[in-house]
Amino acid sequence: MAAIEAIDLTKRYGARTALDGLTFAAQPGEVVGLLGPNGAGKTTTIRLLTTILEPTAGTFTVGGVPGTEPDRVRRQIGVLPESAGYPGRQTGTEYLRYAARLFGRSRADARAVAERLLADVGLADRSSARISAYSRGMRQRLGIARALVNEPAVVFLDEPTLGLDPAGQHEILATIGDIAGHRGATVVLSTHTLSEVEQVCGTVIILDHGRLQAAGPIDEVVAGTGSLSATFRALTEDRS
Ligand SMILES: Nc1ncnc2c1ncn2[C@@H]1O[C@H](COP(=O)(O)OP(=O)(O)O)[C@@H](O)[C@H]1O
Ligand SMILES: [Mg+2]
Repeated sequence: MAAIEAIDLTKRYGARTALDGLTFAAQPGEVVGLLGPNGAGKTTTIRLLTTILEPTAGTFTVGGVPGTEPDRVRRQIGVLPESAGYPGRQTGTEYLRYAARLFGRSRADARAVAERLLADVGLADRSSARISAYSRGMRQRLGIARALVNEPAVVFLDEPTLGLDPAGQHEILATIGDIAGHRGATVVLSTHTLSEVEQVCGTVIILDHGRLQAAGPIDEVVAGTGSLSATFRALTEDRS
């Protein structure tokens, strides 16, 4: 069973088509790079698949659950949204314990989950510091931990490395590789930075102007040009 299956997924805002008939599938344990220049439709795709938006047309399943059952889809997924906000006065531990409690964990369970996830994303030594004292990269790693609280089958990360320096980007990517490797979760990672995709993603989806330009294993997608950046340039109007 595919971890994600989208058929003709479409979202229009009035006359503007943000996503135009996207069809693709992702398999369990895959790290999928969702690529495209600004405005290509990456965030729209993630909002549709996470049931924050309803499609104008088309259908999808996540973890085998149809998008028409959003409550069930949400139990299968974890999300790091495009611009996640954090309560600065909470500590990392408090934030994750609270998230775990929201998913119905007991107090003792929530404590254990928080400690384990903080260690997984490399924040164990800062778990008792207030989030206001965290760097941007640390907040993004906390956001990834938050997305894993319910042991999701599919994790969506919308531009998790945006605004990070190279060291911060590297840490996030290592964390993402671990998630897929150790948990067997499917990860959908949106970005417009190509180098990070080549590091962690086995498969890619390239969007431009809401339309699918290419999809498949990275080596197949780049076969014509020999490099992801050349393929990307050929398939998109990079406006950045
Ligand atoms: N709420 C909205 N209302 C109108 N247009 C929108 C809305 N959200 C996104 N769009 C448009 O949809 C297109 C795709 O946006 P988005 O999915 O955010 O792209 P990306 O994440 O790839 O940068 C853009 O042209 C954007 O302006
Ligand atoms: Mg976006």
